Amino acid sequence: MPHMRRRKSLSEVQRMLRRREFLCNSLAAAGGLFLIKNSPFSGASGASSADSRIEVLLDEPLGIISPNIYGHFTEHLGGVIYDGIWVGENSKVPNVDGIRKELVDEMRKIKAPVVRYPGGCFADSYDWRDGIGPAAKRPTRTNFWADSASSDAPANHKYETNRFGTNEFARFCKLIGCEAYLAANVRSLPAEQFYRWVEYCNSPAGSTTLAEERAAAGFAEPFGVRFWGVGNESWGCGGNFTAQEYAVEFRRYTEWVPRYGQKLSFIGSGPNTDDWNWTREFFEELVRTGKGRLHSLYGWALHYYTWNLSRGRTTDWVQGKGDALKFDAVDWYELMREGERMESLINGHWQGMGEIDREHLVKLVVDEWGPWYKPGSALTPGDQLEQMPTLRDAVFSGMTLDLFHRHPEKIAMANCAQLINCLNSLYLAHEDKFCVTPVGHVFGMYAGHQGGQSLRTIFSAPLIHYERDGQPATFWGLKGSASLREKELVLTVVNPNVSDATEAEIAVRGASIKSGTATTLTNPDIHAHNTFEQRDAVKPQTSSVEAGSKVLRHAFPAASVTTLKLALA
Ligand code: AHR
Repeated sequence: MPHMRRRKSLSEVQRMLRRREFLCNSLAAAGGLFLIKNSPFSGASGASSADSRIEVLLDEPLGIISPNIYGHFTEHLGGVIYDGIWVGENSKVPNVDGIRKELVDEMRKIKAPVVRYPGGCFADSYDWRDGIGPAAKRPTRTNFWADSASSDAPANHKYETNRFGTNEFARFCKLIGCEAYLAANVRSLPAEQFYRWVEYCNSPAGSTTLAEERAAAGFAEPFGVRFWGVGNESWGCGGNFTAQEYAVEFRRYTEWVPRYGQKLSFIGSGPNTDDWNWTREFFEELVRTGKGRLHSLYGWALHYYTWNLSRGRTTDWVQGKGDALKFDAVDWYELMREGERMESLINGHWQGMGEIDREHLVKLVVDEWGPWYKPGSALTPGDQLEQMPTLRDAVFSGMTLDLFHRHPEKIAMANCAQLINCLNSLYLAHEDKFCVTPVGHVFGMYAGHQGGQSLRTIFSAPLIHYERDGQPATFWGLKGSASLREKELVLTVVNPNVSDATEAEIAVRGASIKSGTATTLTNPDIHAHNTFEQRDAVKPQTSSVEAGSKVLRHAFPAASVTTLKLALA
């Protein structure tokens, strides 16, 4: 780690801050401070000795944060469904009708609003009919991911038993209290099968043969599925279509789909990263039969994985990847830099969509996001695409969620890829072992933002300076987001600095802070992560904050994510 200083421990930081506070108070008492007039920071009880400032602008609302930004993604891939979610009714693992109980309990705690299923690439190879009806009669099929599964992967990761299908997924959603988002097969099933799946899920009790089939499985009442993905990555594994071809398919699949009184929201398979042409050409073709077609498209799915940590050396999908566990400070900042591209992707595609969709009827759905590392860090060997989320991924995830909050008018939904045992997972599980990852903790810490009014917030902090392959490089020192619900402000802040804490003065323009709590996730080791043996190595800590004045001073430890919950007066 070339440029790094030793990190200060939390107690050292606290000691440093107490000393600073003492110095500030002494200076203020001596009248030796220069305060900017008309700034909420002037007249603060302490003074302006903090490195950084955060100003929340109550009178600049940005829009309501869709709770669905906190969505998840589950695919029949590796250990996500079998072992992760589904353990079976006869398992020794505590379960509810075969579904892992601990997972359900955790997802209820974080108020998971929506889960996407059954893929991913798997979706465009899946026949939903294989996964309904009596379990013993369901066929076993080759999984989309079979060829890339490792030799030690369990058989049901390669050959899909269909033991978990639409009924079990609906049950899972009901247990969590979330909505279902189903991705339909456009590559290998006809549109008719899409309508039939909608019919199976949504036709009223006793109305159709499929409703009766559903009732025979114990689900008389319709599932009421609102969100339907029309294919997945249709530019790639979902059919290798051109944007124009896909738009034609989209029109056909979504035309006259039966409603049964249920609002349907169709999500189109959007661009890979910065494929601006895919967005522009799709929208141009979609409206060729009339601008009214825009009303059939609720969301435009953007996929962006942060995978290239090569510092510009390659764009090769395999060579460019970094390691989940073995990384230095430069790799840490590289992940953040690459992850921050999300903001320009949101703005760029939004602008492209707006060229046709002038009123912005269609919103963005970022239904796959997260870091993607090279294989080798899986807690359960044989679980394809499983990687070990560390503190770095928690900071990354906080940064990404904050970034989504800053665009509430654009983003209707986002789905972290993937929920359990795969990529940026919130949970890891194997047989009777389970743990919440640092990423999972961030989702818990940020849940209070769901449905809040996002507020413009100004972060001023010294830049982080470091050396990137012999060249000086910088990264921002502090960022976050704020949202308000009645009189409670939720302010989330990321300090990406691997070695230094930052002390900030926080002011809410138009209110004062009565009281509050601070919950912080950090660790002296930037590689820290949770395992089945050490489930709590990285865990949030909550304390009360001393408020009562116009400006609150708070220390954000190095490499940390913090949630401040502040009662305003
Ligand atoms: O999340 C893993 C895979 O990444 C998904 O199946 C696919 O949609 C994407 O390429």
